[in-house]
Amino acid sequence: MDFQLTEEHLAVQEAAREFAQSELLPGVIERDEKQEFPTEQIKKMGELGFMGMMVSPDYGGGGMDTKSYVLAMEEISKVDASASVCMSVNNSLVCWGIEEYGSEDLKQKYLPQLASGQIIGAFCLSEPEAGSDATMQRTTAIDQGDHYIINGTKNWITNGNSASVHIIIAQSDVEKKHRGINALIAEKSWEGFTVGKKENKMGIRASDTHSLMFNDMKVPKSNRIGEDGFGFKFAMSVLNGGRIGIAAQALGIASGAYELSLQYAKERKTFGHEIAKHQAIQFKLAEMATKIEAARLLCLQAADLKDQGKNYAQASAMAKLYASQVAMEVSTEAVQIHGGYGFVKEYHVERMMRDAKITQIYEGTSEIQKIVIARGILK
Ligand code: CAA
Repeated sequence: MDFQLTEEHLAVQEAAREFAQSELLPGVIERDEKQEFPTEQIKKMGELGFMGMMVSPDYGGGGMDTKSYVLAMEEISKVDASASVCMSVNNSLVCWGIEEYGSEDLKQKYLPQLASGQIIGAFCLSEPEAGSDATMQRTTAIDQGDHYIINGTKNWITNGNSASVHIIIAQSDVEKKHRGINALIAEKSWEGFTVGKKENKMGIRASDTHSLMFNDMKVPKSNRIGEDGFGFKFAMSVLNGGRIGIAAQALGIASGAYELSLQYAKERKTFGHEIAKHQAIQFKLAEMATKIEAARLLCLQAADLKDQGKNYAQASAMAKLYASQVAMEVSTEAVQIHGGYGFVKEYHVERMMRDAKITQIYEGTSEIQKIVIARGILK
């Protein structure tokens, strides 16, 4: 595996770092507190090419590889995980899914706006009774000839209100179980589409997570992604890539918390010395740095396999499982190193600790990642 970063990779990393520091850092605490979606910041991210990084230039995207995406996700997530989850869903689940499996018409119709951040997308799989067990879709998409009629409810949808385009996973033929599920693109403005309750969350509070309701919503058959019954496989496939994005998000939360801790340890004095001179703190920093490096390598390995066109389901699950664990551990240690300052909002690490938790839950819990990994091992 060649992890040598090219000039282009380094330029993307630098651009993302610069953007995060200058545009995301100001106001990040207030947005978290007020649960305020970073609308202006996401628009700028679109203009800079961060919302459709891997989309082909033919459809208005950056045409970059997955490694570039991992590097950018890490830098954005170091500062603002609410902005980065929006970026991750748009890039991995929505844009990549449409480009990989959508018809030419769908690509032409939706990708240029999605890739440039003029609009954003959402991926609607989870339901009150279909979280980990994604086959249990209660939302129905009934075939009516040239269109489907959709009824049902989706829960915990990232970008639920801010997205204009939603990929909805729904059951069309219950007899066929997961092979009767379809993936359909719907627009928020369509009749029968209602945005429901906004969740009041522990972390990533500035991202907008909503329930959605569909009441006799008509979706043209031409908006189906792939063949009839391909929806479940579509969802599993995009989640394989999505997990690389969330792994990189977790990596960014960990490295952001680590960098703040390192800086703090060099400034804060106790017992006559900077706390970085105390071995108790040195051991913590050494462990944090080692775990982050290992998580980064797993992220880059999964990205590299994807870029080479090899199977990356197991690698992306490993990256997500480990990086999310590291995000939780490192951000908790970061609060500990900061002591009382770590427990208050101004120092950022308490937010990072709250944000870290979701990386062990969404796009498949840690337990789901272990199922995916075990299946790969035992196959
Ligand atoms: N990649 C590709 N295909 C896969 C796959 C994978 N990782 N996992 C399963 N499949 C395919 C199988 O090959 C099988 O295909 P066939 O029809 O040809 O046999 C089909 O899908 C069904 O597979 P299983 O029988 O193995 O399915 P299962 O019911 O046992 O479930 C699971 C497998 C891994 C547990 C799956 O349900 C899963 O990943 N659940 C978690 C769902 C999830 O991640 N939800 C997150 C919501 S999205 C989100 O969080 C976005 C956000 O807002 C940030």
